Amino acid sequence: MKLFRRLRTDPVWKDEFSIDRADEHYVSRRQFTKFLVLTSLGMFVGNMWILARSWFSKEPVYPEKSICRATDIPIGGVRLFRYPTQKDACILIRTEDGNFVAYTQKCTHLSCAVYYAREKNRLECPCHEGYFSIKDGSVLQGPPPRPLPRVVLERRGDELVAVGMRIHESI
Ligand code: FES
Repeated sequence: MKLFRRLRTDPVWKDEFSIDRADEHYVSRRQFTKFLVLTSLGMFVGNMWILARSWFSKEPVYPEKSICRATDIPIGGVRLFRYPTQKDACILIRTEDGNFVAYTQKCTHLSCAVYYAREKNRLECPCHEGYFSIKDGSVLQGPPPRPLPRVVLERRGDELVAVGMRIHESI
C-alpha cells in the first residue's frame, strides 16, 4: 500500500469524487441515438406544423364592387377605380376588341402608377420604363420583377363588377 501511494500522481480526494474527468466528454451510443431520435422528431413535428398551416390557411376573400357601366367606356378608354380597398388604385381598360381588363395601377418594381399607352396598346410605368402587356399584365420590358396583379371582372348586364384579384399569374 505504501508503494502504491508513492507512485500515484493524482491527489487522494479524486478517489472520492464521483465524476471521472476522462469520461466527461464521452457520449455513449445510447445517448447519441437518443439525440438523433429527438432531433428528427423535432424536425418532423416542425414540418408537420408548416404543412398544416399551409393547408388550413384561407384564400383571401375579396369584396364585390361595381365599377361602372360598360357603355360608359369607349373602345380604348380607361376608368380609374379603387379595389379591393380605398387605398388600392386600379385601372380598367376597354381593349380594341371591345373586352374589358383591369389591373392594379401599382408597378411591381417600385410602386409608381402605371398608365395605359393606347398607341402602343400596353401599360407603361413612367419611372423606369417598365412596360406591361395589356393581355395578361406580364412584363414586356424593364425592371419590374412580376406581372401586374389583375382584377377579376364580371359583367352583369351593363354593369362591370370587380370580384377578386389574380396575383402573379398569367391568364
Ligand atoms: S417603378 Fe415602375 S419600372 Fe420602376
